[in-house]
Amino acid sequence: MTSDRASDVSDDVIDVADDLMSVVASLTSSRRYVPQWYVYDTRGSELCEELIQKSKTYKVWQHEYSILQTHADDIASKVSYPAVLVDLGSGASSKTRLIIEAMRKLYGNFTFVPVDMAKEFIETCGRRLETDYPGLTVEPFGGLYMDGVRHVASRDEAKLLLWLGNSFSNVSVHHQVEMLQDIREQLTERDRLVLGVDMNADREALSQAYGDQWIPIWRDNFICRLNKDFGGNMDVDRFEFDYELVEKSTDEEPSYVVLSLISSGKQRVHFETLGLDIDFEDGEKIYFYEGPNTSCKWNLRQLRRLAEKSGFAVDAHWTNDEENYCVICLAPADTSD
Ligand SMILES: C[S@@+](CC[C@H](N)C(=O)[O-])C[C@H]1O[C@@H](n2cnc3c(N)ncnc32)[C@H](O)[C@@H]1O
Repeated sequence: MTSDRASDVSDDVIDVADDLMSVVASLTSSRRYVPQWYVYDTRGSELCEELIQKSKTYKVWQHEYSILQTHADDIASKVSYPAVLVDLGSGASSKTRLIIEAMRKLYGNFTFVPVDMAKEFIETCGRRLETDYPGLTVEPFGGLYMDGVRHVASRDEAKLLLWLGNSFSNVSVHHQVEMLQDIREQLTERDRLVLGVDMNADREALSQAYGDQWIPIWRDNFICRLNKDFGGNMDVDRFEFDYELVEKSTDEEPSYVVLSLISSGKQRVHFETLGLDIDFEDGEKIYFYEGPNTSCKWNLRQLRRLAEKSGFAVDAHWTNDEENYCVICLAPADTSD
């Protein structure tokens, strides 16, 4: 069948999981995109960790690590014992180790719940954490952010939720407030939500940070995954990785980065498993999130406004020496009246 709409996927298609069907739906929508988690299968997660730690121009990992190194004890003491540590979009949890160590020092043993769509990857990382930290219980949750939050909501312990690596900034700017409000609904006054967010506003530094170094993950591995999951014949050499910075100057909305793949020429891609052809126009883009943004760049006023609109109060915040990265601790605000 020659069509490019998800509804036209062949009736013979069986055994494509629901989460993968959501990828087909977004890829065949009028604005072609994939949910951001799709980039992070096991290989994508490994590549991300490898590239991010060795990058000389994308410093988010290093900035956040240095803040956590200095303030892990402060963050860990924001909740009282017994507490559960939850890591939204945990990936390898490499920086989270600093919080785990601080909580062990303060409280002894506790439960750690990494939440991530990359289920196999976080299970492997979880086993490594249990070996490295005897007495730590790791209960990985393979699923979407909000499902993970709901999953832990009824636990008796106080909850310390981390959302590190500027990952919150990949949520659509149109849905960020709503998503934080949803999280707020699931929390009680003794819980805390800790966000790690990028504050880099330097145009030149940003253009270097989002250069070709990311092609192995955002183009090559992504296309490899699409071809594997759906029996596709997409050619990596016929898509170019693109970066754009969108600057905003109000307190209501942060600046953001847009990452995409651009089709080099008009082309038809066939997905055998789906019985589906997708036609790309020359210059047509595939985005990595349903919203306009891939990665927001904040200032403190915007973060305070975001907290206020979402039913949170800023409990504390810490920046690095260059003041281009921030870890912010949000406490549920009293919304009783
Ligand atoms: C940029 S990585 C951050 C990894 C780690 N927290 C860090 O700071 O190094 C984002 C992670 O979020 C996960 N992710 C993205 N969207 C998600 C979603 N909607 N629900 C659950 N996990 C998601 C990805 O699989 C990936 O592991």
